[in-house]
Amino acid sequence: MKVAVFDSGIGGLTVVKSLLEHKLFEEIIYFGDTARVPYGIKDKNTIIRYSLEALEFFKNFEVDILITACNSVSAYAIPELKQNAPFPVVGVIEPGVLALERKINDKEANILIIGTNATIKSQKYQKLLNQKGFFNLVSKPTGLFVPIVEEGIFEGEVLEAAMRHYFKDINKPDAIILGCTHFPLIAKNIKNYFQNDTTLIHSGEAIVEHLEKDFSLKKRFSKTSLKLFASENPEKLKVIAKVWLKPSIV
Ligand code: DGL
Repeated sequence: MKVAVFDSGIGGLTVVKSLLEHKLFEEIIYFGDTARVPYGIKDKNTIIRYSLEALEFFKNFEVDILITACNSVSAYAIPELKQNAPFPVVGVIEPGVLALERKINDKEANILIIGTNATIKSQKYQKLLNQKGFFNLVSKPTGLFVPIVEEGIFEGEVLEAAMRHYFKDINKPDAIILGCTHFPLIAKNIKNYFQNDTTLIHSGEAIVEHLEKDFSLKKRFSKTSLKLFASENPEKLKVIAKVWLKPSIV
């Protein structure tokens, strides 16, 4: 089984990490559109256009499935990708909502959804959560976290200030949807900020559960080979992957 993983930049590596840990695939082809990141501040049509261009790149490989490891792409481009792809396409938003539903039994739970401007504006999470009976939702675009993570800032004053800026008026949530694949890298900090036992929903873990359940994929490959591509500075992506994916990388 060969999987294509697409993100606007390096954030999708958090999804790759989960895929590597669960050994669901023999080969992962990753493409990060590093020349044009961030997508989260762009409009729907631009995100769709960039996503279709990435799809053309993946058509050069005989992949079995494409995972859009980017919430902003998952929010807008899934219908177009599905229409044009010769293989199944899976986004991260629905799996995230299903993961939350499995973890949170109380429909009255307070849920905080954070993501890029594009993801929050799409209302995708909000609508799906409403359909599942969750109505106590607060959604907050927290786009600054993307460049902070891209800069390799995982602690300290800049991150603390950004969290204060975004969260100062938000009550402690029971669950937080990390609606951007960059955010698992600062998940611990976000959890600490609210100083409670908030349940965090992470796109990578959610997609693994989804693939195991709905695509009947199982842990079966002892080794996964990872090929990394980027539209700009692939060397930087490879260096970051070595650090982030350790020790899952083989
Ligand atoms: N990793 C992308 C996501 O999950 C966001 C980064 C961006 O704005 O391009 O939405």
